[in-house]
Amino acid sequence: MIVVIGGGTMGAGIAVEFLLAGREVTVTETGPEATEAALARITDSLGRTLRRRGREGEDEQVLAALEMMVGPAPVSDPELVVEAVPEDPELKKSVLVGAEAAYPHAAVLASNTSSLSIGELAGVLTEPGRFIGMHFFNPVPVSQLVEIVVGARTSPRTVETTRSLVELIGKTPITVRDSPGFASSRLGIALGMEAIRMVEDEVASAEDIDRAMVLGYKHPIGPLRLTDLVGLDVRLAIAEYLSDQLGPRFTPPELLRRMVAEGRLGKKTGEGFYQW
Ligand SMILES: NC(=O)c1ccc[n+]([C@@H]2O[C@H](COP(=O)([O-])OP(=O)(O)OC[C@H]3O[C@@H](n4cnc5c(N)ncnc54)[C@H](O)[C@@H]3O)[C@@H](O)[C@H]2O)c1
Repeated sequence: MIVVIGGGTMGAGIAVEFLLAGREVTVTETGPEATEAALARITDSLGRTLRRRGREGEDEQVLAALEMMVGPAPVSDPELVVEAVPEDPELKKSVLVGAEAAYPHAAVLASNTSSLSIGELAGVLTEPGRFIGMHFFNPVPVSQLVEIVVGARTSPRTVETTRSLVELIGKTPITVRDSPGFASSRLGIALGMEAIRMVEDEVASAEDIDRAMVLGYKHPIGPLRLTDLVGLDVRLAIAEYLSDQLGPRFTPPELLRRMVAEGRLGKKTGEGFYQW
């Protein structure tokens, strides 16, 4: 039995993957409306994922193993409780305290945080040994990677169980020490910021800088196009956080600040390094 706390963008995808791996899944939400919206997201994502994997028509059978709830599920020993509530440290801490009380015998208690310190979140728990970061990527059913973030007090057994759970859903785990930006954001932002500095220095056009990585290094997408898709404001915020935590090598380029101030945020506003 898997418990997913919060059936938003990420929680819905996580639920779909464990359902498809044959597990019983309970998704907990805040109220009836949020529960209905979460169920719609799961049903929709499941349908698309089944189609993509050539398993059309199995929807009903798979959904039979799903339970939606407001408040904690009536089970004390799930294999995994993973929270995917919004990225607000105080909210996450209160959800984790509640989860520890509701599921005293859960094997693993995980957070899908994309930026918060696992050590800091673990500070509110009485049993930090079974707490770990499970950083899924969006959209979950399409992405191959789960970054496992190991806190200073996470037990080796928790790491092993978490790796097995990631493999169970057919994804590849990487193991990262709890540190700012984990592996993915730290390296992705470094590349993205340098690409923006190259535009600023007029080394080459945005298109050609992206081509250098796509054709020369076999990246599926160039760093500037990716920045447009993620949102320049989102990447600026991460760069500021990393420069604060890891030093000036992450200081965001002036060009990025200027574009954000002008509202050129990428795809969502129609203009970034490209016209959309
Ligand atoms: N969206 C992404 O691309 C992405 C990628 C990787 C990681 N993350 C991380 O995943 C987490 C969730 O992000 P998201 O984009 O899915 O958010 P979201 O806003 O889409 O979903 C959050 C869900 O949590 C529910 N919720 C709020 N409080 C709750 C509570 N107390 N109990 C149960 N449910 C509660 C909300 O109703 C909502 O459905 C965040 O930590 C985020 O940083 C997001």
